[in-house]
Amino acid sequence: MGNWKMHGSLAANADLLAGIKAGAARATGEVALCVPFPYLEQARSALSGSAVTWGAQDVSVHAQGAYTGEVSASMLADLACSWVLCGHSERRAMHGESSDVVAAKAATALAAGLTPVVCVGETLSDREADDVERVIGDQLNPVLALGAEALSRLVIAYEPVWAIGTGRTATPEQAQTVHALIRRSLTEHGAGQVRILYGGSVKASNAASLFAQADIDGALVGGASLVAEEFLNIAAA
Ligand code: 13P
Repeated sequence: MGNWKMHGSLAANADLLAGIKAGAARATGEVALCVPFPYLEQARSALSGSAVTWGAQDVSVHAQGAYTGEVSASMLADLACSWVLCGHSERRAMHGESSDVVAAKAATALAAGLTPVVCVGETLSDREADDVERVIGDQLNPVLALGAEALSRLVIAYEPVWAIGTGRTATPEQAQTVHALIRRSLTEHGAGQVRILYGGSVKASNAASLFAQADIDGALVGGASLVAEEFLNIAAA
């Protein structure tokens, strides 16, 4: 799954979407793109009928009303989105999204028939303080409280904050350790089959070793999703 973040223009997207669509058949798994809101219609028009699905990077907790600047889950469903990122670390850090808000966003997305991709991850200081398990647990708990049926319809993405956009990928073993922890929590809540993506400086050159880990089911890719060939090589891995 690509996360374009706040990148793109109509012209640049047209090339990128065409390139990804043309090469997506090489992928053995699912290929999806989370694009900025204004480009959802462009993604829909370019990708409809292809193997590539699309989604958004955030959603309002509210169904509708006087919430200037917000975008509702039903609007995303209207644009045939399959996915929505909830609680990306950039939103937690820069927009003060708490784990309760993130879980509420996931619930709103599920109610509209979207698949939320709930992002969790520790900062470098959390890791250095040996606090990873507690931090991930605190982020996951409100989501786990949604119950087994809801959990079975969502995706978790583990994105260590220190690995995002830094070129410093978690080693496959570091990532697997946290994925196993997340898997254990999900299993205890009756949802052991939930897909868990890894995100943080994923590239074609490190994707295969990450995907070889038992509990890594895919990737959430930032920078490398802006280059069709690189992204397709990750998908092929
Ligand atoms: P990078 O792949 O650019 O490190 O970004 C990861 C990410 O935040 C995806 O959501």
